[in-house]
Amino acid sequence: MKGLVLSGGKGTRLYPLTYTKAKQLIPVANKPVLFRVIEAIRDAGITEIGVVVGDTASEVKEAVGRGKRWGVNITYIQQSTPSGLAHAVKESREFLGDDRFVMFLGDNCIQGGISPLIEQFGRSDWNAQIVLTRVPDPSQFGVAELDDEGRIVRLVEKPKEPRSNLALVGIYMFDQSIWEAIAHIKPSWRGELEITDAIQYLVEHGYRVFPYIHRGWWIDTGKRSDMLDANRLVLEELEHRIDGFVDKDSQVTGKVTVEQGAEIINSVIRGPAIIGEHARVVNSYVGPFTAIYHHTEIEDSEIEHSIVLENSSIVSIPHRIEDSLIGRNVKIHRSPIKPKAYKLMLGDNSDVGIL
Ligand code: TTP
Repeated sequence: MKGLVLSGGKGTRLYPLTYTKAKQLIPVANKPVLFRVIEAIRDAGITEIGVVVGDTASEVKEAVGRGKRWGVNITYIQQSTPSGLAHAVKESREFLGDDRFVMFLGDNCIQGGISPLIEQFGRSDWNAQIVLTRVPDPSQFGVAELDDEGRIVRLVEKPKEPRSNLALVGIYMFDQSIWEAIAHIKPSWRGELEITDAIQYLVEHGYRVFPYIHRGWWIDTGKRSDMLDANRLVLEELEHRIDGFVDKDSQVTGKVTVEQGAEIINSVIRGPAIIGEHARVVNSYVGPFTAIYHHTEIEDSEIEHSIVLENSSIVSIPHRIEDSLIGRNVKIHRSPIKPKAYKLMLGDNSDVGIL
């Protein structure tokens, strides 16, 4: 079996961060979501992994490499245009051949990995398996309807009146019948070749499509609030350790990781939280569910339930920062220059909440 990870796309819902950075490389608990996806596939025993890339190909390739560090072989597939999930599969034909494969969206995070579902599909003679999970608000998702035997009968995108609360998770398993399906579908109203249409084709043409019901959490990290949710859930499950320096005037409580080279000076860190390599926290408070990435500095400030990416600095901020997703090389500081005013330089589509 092979793995296919989708890491192209546009990432418009995470602008402005994704103007300059592939969304799959935004870290959750200080590790890019894409790395977590590759690890989940590797842990399920799959070593041949194709990664579909788009406009952000060069930085994805630079970050991921050939896969040696995970003990896998990575092949890159350049998608000509971001024209949908089924389009990405179509353009991966040469890599996939006629093998069975698992396709995993590169911005999805799932609790407990994918070994059980890979095992189930591997043992079966099913043509496809889709992963479903129960959600409280199915009308926000692709929703599956099952028959009495538990077989898929229909998939509906964001239904107004959902017939079940089973949402499609971004993990799919296929055999070679998917090629016939993709050859027969047409672009949707949004101009994309939809994977749900391909699966619907399989269902309507008598192929055996079964669900795997996932019982842990699952997050599609498409928006800021999803990134923060994923960060919270992963931080709670991490094995924590202190490899950096914590001075005697600091208080570190709960599940906290302080990476090598990081320094905590006269500060309070309340877990679950992670402070990345060579980050500095000075005279500050870092509260629960916060991930500070490498080489970032927090000084005379308070922050909680947030993600701060690398090489940023937050200095002397009078109010606590919460629920925030802060990019790379960002500077937030007090300005001593009169007049007393907010002085901002924000990218397009930035979103700032002020007291
Ligand atoms: P989406 O989140 O559905 O699409 P997107 O990345 O374009 O994001 P947005 O809606 O914010 O503009 O994509 C799911 C995953 O699949 C994501 O990792 C990107 C990837 N993808 C491709 O590789 N090729 C594609 O053509 C599309 C649409 C997505």
